[in-house]
Amino acid sequence: MNLRNTCRERRNQLSPEQQFHHARQASHLLLRSNWLQRPKRIAVYFSQDGELNTDSLIDALWQRNHQVFLPVLKTLRGRHMAFAEYTPESVLAPNRFGILEPQIQNQYHLTGQQLDLVLMPLTCFDLQGHRTGMGGGFYDRTFQFKRWQTHRHNRPKLIGWAHECQKVEHIQPEPWDIPLEGLVTEKNLYTF
Ligand SMILES: Nc1ncnc2c1ncn2[C@@H]1O[C@H](COP(=O)(O)OP(=O)(O)O)[C@@H](O)[C@H]1O
Ligand SMILES: [Mg+2]
Repeated sequence: MNLRNTCRERRNQLSPEQQFHHARQASHLLLRSNWLQRPKRIAVYFSQDGELNTDSLIDALWQRNHQVFLPVLKTLRGRHMAFAEYTPESVLAPNRFGILEPQIQNQYHLTGQQLDLVLMPLTCFDLQGHRTGMGGGFYDRTFQFKRWQTHRHNRPKLIGWAHECQKVEHIQPEPWDIPLEGLVTEKNLYTF
């Protein structure tokens, strides 16, 4: 079995109680971090397939006056994402993968460059900040611009959101992979 499927299997074996506990612990760590001490524009995602849950985090972000965004697929064939604000009033509808997106007009979508922080879904990570996704390369494509960024203009911060059991010894990065700058689990807040 490849690394991607090994990690997916591990996170799917967590009990509902573990899932709940991990999400609460990780939210605490992220909310206390330096990244979120002022109101920010934050992209999150709806968790599936055993991914570390984001529901309680999203509520806490709203309470603290952060703006929350969800990825939206711009076009049928385009393979990168834009971001739509998500509020308690948002109307949601499934995209072509069945993932819910806020229904707002294109003109209100943000690009990746306009966000402060992005919580990145992943299947596996290592302690060098390498990340393996689900295999679509959507986040790599969307944040390709980070490759040419100078340190002074370092936005958005790309932060992994995962269970500790998704950590692996080493991921061999591909040339197009965009590394993580930090990562939050139920146990640790890593900076890479
Ligand atoms: N910036 C990019 N330009 C062109 N193709 C890309 C780019 N990023 C990813 N891809 C393509 O997307 C596919 C999936 O990328 P991969 O990194 O394996 O997925 P993931 O990061 O979701 O695990 C790869 O086959 C790669 O060719
Ligand atoms: Mg990749």
